[in-house]
Amino acid sequence: MFSQSFPFFNHYWPFLLIGFIFYVLGNVFAKSSKVVRHTKQIFKQSYEDSTSLEKELEEETELEQDELDDEFVPALPSDLQHIPFVYTRPSPEQLVQRTQEFYELVAARRSIRSFSSDPVSKDIIREIIKAAGTAPSGAHTEPWTFVLVSDVQIKAQIREIVEREEEVNYKRRMGKQWTTDLKPLRTNWIKEYLTTAPYLILVFKQMYGLTESGERKNHYYHDISVAIACGILITAIQAAGLVTVVSTPLNGGPSIRKILNRPANEKLVLVFPVGYPASDATMPDLHRKHLSEILVEF
Ligand SMILES: Cc1cc2nc3c(=O)[nH]c(=O)nc-3n(C[C@H](O)[C@H](O)[C@H](O)COP(=O)(O)O)c2cc1C
Repeated sequence: MFSQSFPFFNHYWPFLLIGFIFYVLGNVFAKSSKVVRHTKQIFKQSYEDSTSLEKELEEETELEQDELDDEFVPALPSDLQHIPFVYTRPSPEQLVQRTQEFYELVAARRSIRSFSSDPVSKDIIREIIKAAGTAPSGAHTEPWTFVLVSDVQIKAQIREIVEREEEVNYKRRMGKQWTTDLKPLRTNWIKEYLTTAPYLILVFKQMYGLTESGERKNHYYHDISVAIACGILITAIQAAGLVTVVSTPLNGGPSIRKILNRPANEKLVLVFPVGYPASDATMPDLHRKHLSEILVEF
């Protein structure tokens, strides 16, 4: 009866059924792939969130983690006294004069890579390091050690390590862009100044401090604290009338640390040769950015 009333359906019902099944399956598939996409997106987002959070945590709250660590002792006594700040306000004229004089002093500083071997009083270098040691530091942890080397043999050992590593750096590690950028400065892996300069000041950052009884002290912002101290160091060298160059002992740090018997909490950051310039010293004719290029005012 049904087949007689609907001859079309009677004839084509298997195709219609298959079509219907495909339609249903298609819908289910489309919905589920949408769900999968959405779920993937949620997972991706939460993964990105968690990794960026992880990074932030690593970078910023590593300290908090350490703070919670029972091994660490407080950086400062909890009953630290506060005393009056003794200050004499300069007159407007003095302000102008001082700022100009200071600018002229620091503007005349240049990186010098050929040194005279003429001796310099060790007391002068000690005073320079004393000035660097006045740098501000995170929670006043003073996370630096300055190693002063004048011993000819130790200087030679340091030079050997630096040159060995620098040769590999220049030939393999640094890459074309870096070596091309350095070419105008005419630097290479030969660092004669490490043995000609009467002094080498090696600056170590202390990743954490150690008390006499071996307890650990947290060192907050040790990188930036040491960088500020190095800024004061090169300015003090300039103010004294001596010269230096910021020298990065890329990859040579661990071997140099061993030679100098520095403990495991210290990492070599920079090496500064200090002395008088060689009489035939030259320097690249560099120009500094104008104030308008480095200053943004609101
Ligand atoms: C972090 C840092 C690392 C540097 N490393 C080196 C180095 O390894 N060797 C070098 O000859 N100069 C080095 N320099 C010196 C720069 O090349 C120099 O400061 C720059 O060319 C500007 O020249 P000036 O210091 O004469 O103003 C470094 C400077 C800085 C701030």
